Parts: sequence; C-alpha cells; structure tokens
Amino acid sequence: MNEAQRLVKSKQRVADHGEVFTPAWMVDDMLDLVKPESERIDSRVLEPTCGSGNFLVPVLARKLVTVQLRHGKSEFEKRHYALFALMCLYGIELLTDNAEECRDNLDEVFNAFLGVSHDDQWAQAARAVLAVNIVQGDALTMTTVTGQPITFPEWGYLGKGKFQRRDFRYDELTKRASYEGSLFGELDDKDLFVPAQTYLTMTVAQIAGAAT
Ligand SMILES: C[S@@+](CC[C@H](N)C(=O)[O-])C[C@H]1O[C@@H](n2cnc3c(N)ncnc32)[C@H](O)[C@@H]1O
Repeated sequence: MNEAQRLVKSKQRVADHGEVFTPAWMVDDMLDLVKPESERIDSRVLEPTCGSGNFLVPVLARKLVTVQLRHGKSEFEKRHYALFALMCLYGIELLTDNAEECRDNLDEVFNAFLGVSHDDQWAQAARAVLAVNIVQGDALTMTTVTGQPITFPEWGYLGKGKFQRRDFRYDELTKRASYEGSLFGELDDKDLFVPAQTYLTMTVAQIAGAAT
C-alpha cells in the first residue's frame, strides 16, 4: 500500500467525513512542537476527530518511553504507570470502524510494551480503559451515537496499585475558557466542575473485570 492509499480509505469517505489521515512524519513534527507535553506520562491529550489514532498512538509511544526511563526498574511501577499513560489519552470519532481501529492500535502498542497477550489482566484493563476513553460520537454536538452527552473519565494513579476515576461531561469541560476574565474565572476547577460520577478506588484487576 502506498502512502496516499494509507491516508485515504475511499473518495466517498473523504467527501462524506473529511477522512484524510495525517502522515507519520507530520504527526511527529507537530508533536515535537509540544515535546515535553507529548512525553509526560500524565499529560492529558484529547484528539476530537481521532480517526484510527495517528496522533494518539505516537503520543502513547512517547509516554511509554518515559515510563521505561522513570519506572523501568520496577515491573510493578512500570505496568501501573504504563496503564496510567494510556488512561490520559482520549479520542472522539464519528465512524465505528475508525473508533475500533483506534482502540486496537493503542491496545497493540500497550500490550507490546508490557509483553502481554490479549487475555492477560493488563490487556483486559487497557481494553476497559479504551472502551470509555475512545468515544464513538460527534465532536461538534458533543454527543455519543445514541445522542447522550459525551463524558470522559478523569483517571488518577494514587500509587500502591490504586487508581481513581471521576467522570465529567465533555460539554461542561469545554466551558472553562468562557469563564476566563469573568467572575467565575477566579474559581478553582473543583468549584466549577462537578463530576457526573465518582468511583471507589480500584486495582488493575477490578478495572480488567469491567471489561469482561
Ligand atoms: C481528517 S481525518 C483525521 C483523522 C486523524 N485525526 C488523523 O490526523 O489521522 C478526520 C476524522 O474525523 C472524523 N470525523 C468527521 N467528523 C467528525 C465529527 N463531527 N466528530 C468526530 N469525528 C469526526 C472522520 O471520520 C475522520 O476519521
């Protein structure tokens, strides 16, 4: 397959959805413009029209290099921080096949990094995270395919194998900028944003359990 074929699936999809994927060299050049953020384990990255993950996959790869450098000596920490790196990536994609490809492509990089197969607990946990972080929906209306408001989980790694999760509505998160310069601009994020749902802390086994 030549480069043009890899970047376009069909003329019809280009016409219907503006589906032209970004070449790897351009993605790398763009990520280099925000190099420290693209490599930081806990930087949160959202691709609102993520396609099959041409941006999210290289960001995950960069984050995993940092995980290896910082936590490579401890298998326990390496695995938990690798999952946390994945937890900080978000995508919205209109088309079912692209959304699924995006999850699969991220999955593949994560599993290869940890050297685990698809039925491993870590792979299952990654799958559960990707099911909620990569949303099939419309980035313009901020709704899912069923018309519900898009929500994203804010994951945190608390250490000692414990993760936390709070879900926020995407449309409410995007209002932050409109508060700047107003009376509300003085408020902390915690006063402005109320989670739609808060979960008890969980282990990787509990996250993996949600995927089965
Ligand atoms: C130009 S492609 C870019 C894909 C990817 N970001 C990349 O750079 O390779 C645009 C993608 O956005 C999707 N898309 C189009 N309209 C959308 C919308 N309203 N909400 C979410 N995704 C949309 C298309 O299906 C397509 O996969």
